[in-house]
Amino acid sequence: MITANTILTRRSVRTYDGRAVEPEKLERVKAFAREAENPFGIPVTFVFLDAKERGLSSPVLTGEPLYVAGKVPKAPYGEVAFGFSMEKLLLYAWSLGLGSVWIGGTMKREAFEAAAAKGESERMPCVSPLGYPAAKRSLRETVMRRGCKADSRLDGKKLFFDGTFDTPLAGKALEPWGDVLELVRWAPSAVNRQPWRLVLRDGWFHFCLRHDKGYLGEAVGDMQKIDLGIALCHFVLGAEEQGLTCRVEIRDPGIPLPPETEYIASAALTKKAE
Ligand SMILES: Cc1cc2nc3c(=O)[nH]c(=O)nc-3n(C[C@H](O)[C@H](O)[C@H](O)COP(=O)(O)O)c2cc1C
Repeated sequence: MITANTILTRRSVRTYDGRAVEPEKLERVKAFAREAENPFGIPVTFVFLDAKERGLSSPVLTGEPLYVAGKVPKAPYGEVAFGFSMEKLLLYAWSLGLGSVWIGGTMKREAFEAAAAKGESERMPCVSPLGYPAAKRSLRETVMRRGCKADSRLDGKKLFFDGTFDTPLAGKALEPWGDVLELVRWAPSAVNRQPWRLVLRDGWFHFCLRHDKGYLGEAVGDMQKIDLGIALCHFVLGAEEQGLTCRVEIRDPGIPLPPETEYIASAALTKKAE
């Protein structure tokens, strides 16, 4: 089961101990992958690939026995849906003791796309290794983590807003949502850029994306929309664990946006009917 603890203890793993994932455990992960839906109703399919058999590797990884590659139709909201479904899957794997790391750049993309049999109308934006974390991180991994400050996140005041982008969500207004928003804050993102910005207005959290340059490409689409989907996934899973129902809709409230910022989707939390 994915809990707040699963989300808060998750870290990227780039150094594996080489052990194979037991067939029964792998079957559980595959079964979960078949059901890993997202609020946009866009199908995301996952392909599991043996690293040795398929000759697959990444320069930032060592000892990984296995990869999972995700595929999504080229469609509006495809990247957001992809981020949501794949994060759910990687969190589930973590709850079973399996490490992972989102890989959208540091791989031979053509080799993975061929192994995953990516179709013309699809994208395969990212892959992840799956396996058991080694006792000690490689030097390269330690340096990479330092480089993008992987062990820290932006302060909530820079991410969560009350009514408009001028007012950080704080004090009494923040209290009921603090725990769920902490899970959003700890979402992983490409180069740890944390591009999500949430505005609470009239009972809805409006998820917006503050774009950085350099994250657009034909093969991936908009990498930062994947980050947004991951943050939304943490929000929904956190709410569910608290016994809340989360409704996700695309309903742009027309809030004035800062430069380079785009509205993506909204989420409202309600108590589950008794
Ligand atoms: C969409 C996406 C793409 C990523 N691509 C890569 C990658 O190509 N190589 C890599 O080493 N890490 C990649 N990462 C991992 C991030 O660097 C990592 O999640 C971030 O630094 C935060 O660290 P943490 O996951 O340990 O919390 C990616 C993460 C996301 C969400």
